[in-house]
Amino acid sequence: MHSIFVTRKIPAEGLEILRACCEVEIFEADRMPTKQEIIKHARDKEGLLCLLTDTIDREVMDACPRLRAISTYSAGVNHIDISYATQKNIIVTNAPAALTETTADLAFALLLAVARRIPESDRFMRERKFNGWAPMLMLGHDVYGKTIGIVGAGKIGTAVARRAKGFSMNILYYSRKQNSEIEAMGGIKKDIDELCAESDFVSLHVPLSQETYHIIDERRLRLMKKTAFLINTSRGQCVDENALVRCLKEGVIAGAALDVFEFEPAVSEELYEMENVVLTPHIGSATLATRRNMAIMAAEQLVKALRGERPEYVVNPGVLGSESRA
Ligand code: DGY
Repeated sequence: MHSIFVTRKIPAEGLEILRACCEVEIFEADRMPTKQEIIKHARDKEGLLCLLTDTIDREVMDACPRLRAISTYSAGVNHIDISYATQKNIIVTNAPAALTETTADLAFALLLAVARRIPESDRFMRERKFNGWAPMLMLGHDVYGKTIGIVGAGKIGTAVARRAKGFSMNILYYSRKQNSEIEAMGGIKKDIDELCAESDFVSLHVPLSQETYHIIDERRLRLMKKTAFLINTSRGQCVDENALVRCLKEGVIAGAALDVFEFEPAVSEELYEMENVVLTPHIGSATLATRRNMAIMAAEQLVKALRGERPEYVVNPGVLGSESRA
């Protein structure tokens, strides 16, 4: 039986798959384990099922000599040192397909929320301030017919484009590769600076990497329209959060809707005070069905990797070779 450490309780459907064929140890506390705690429990394990909040670096991998496979309960893999895992011949898998539509839904929900001032209106109601319809009350921005700039035209970016099309938006996208599905919807591929300058809503859907770290920096924020909004459901470090705070304070852009934060779980204090900013606690994939599917997918990937079968979502396919690893 293969031995596995799971860094936090995940939905039961995933744990059942693991328990059916492996000896499973789960981190018991309802909090993130520290790196030392991960090492303590994973030291003698062959498999690790981790979360996006766990840093799985060289130190962890070196301390776990039996480790052969890491499966992350996330689409993003920026918390894992992939090149070191590859050097150590450790298979890394993720669970990307499970959360595409759910994350796209959240991006669109945030776009609508910030444009139509929904959280602000909700606060207004709860403060018992509503005295009846008024011509100038909570005037927001239209979404219909506006231009969305999609940064990163992978699966989630494409799913956001489909939603934008349903709202009769003009679609611009930035991507290294041409995206024929977005172009079939009338989408136009742009250079990132042009996209920032021409969009009413800039929505981020890139994975975090060296190239995308601070892809929205102060210069690009200043290229955006004064009436434009920034939506981020990708990774906090894709935006220079200090620059964003400065630009929001100066009215360089109209507002922002953020599900992720550069210094997560810390959030720049000023953002809490801004009415034109919508904040959610990294809930891109947080629906019951999607989290269950992610658990199943992450568990299946790990079991396949440990059995020497070929998992579908291998982040470092170079480790697989043509031989079985069983
Ligand atoms: C992921 O899986 O990378 C998402 O950020 C989870 O919400």
